[in-house]
Amino acid sequence: MLKVTIDEQTLEVEAGSTVLQAAQRLGIDVPTFCYLKRLPPLASCRMCLVEIEGVRRLQPSCATAVADGMVVRTNTSLIEETRSSMLDMLLANHPLRLPDLRQGRRVRASGHGDGLRPS
Ligand code: FES
Repeated sequence: MLKVTIDEQTLEVEAGSTVLQAAQRLGIDVPTFCYLKRLPPLASCRMCLVEIEGVRRLQPSCATAVADGMVVRTNTSLIEETRSSMLDMLLANHPLRLPDLRQGRRVRASGHGDGLRPS
């Protein structure tokens, strides 16, 4: 068993578990787009990025195996800014029409900063 601390909560997981799986066991919500439980991780959308102590760059939690003693953060300002940028880049190449359930009208995904705009 490997011990991992995520957002100040510690648990033990089996060897081979990913950081995403450990976070989910703790009830921590890490956003994902390309992760599918039954398939090997693609790690292409980068929405699940996390900070790992001692690692210079953000890592995709869906494709990063837990190491014993690992300390992970899932909700820092760097992570939020990076996720927002990744989402903007994803939407920039995928113009979509989506229902805006909050206001009962359709919106267009713009990919420009605020993401969704009424159409
Ligand atoms: S869910 Fe897409 S990179 Fe992890």
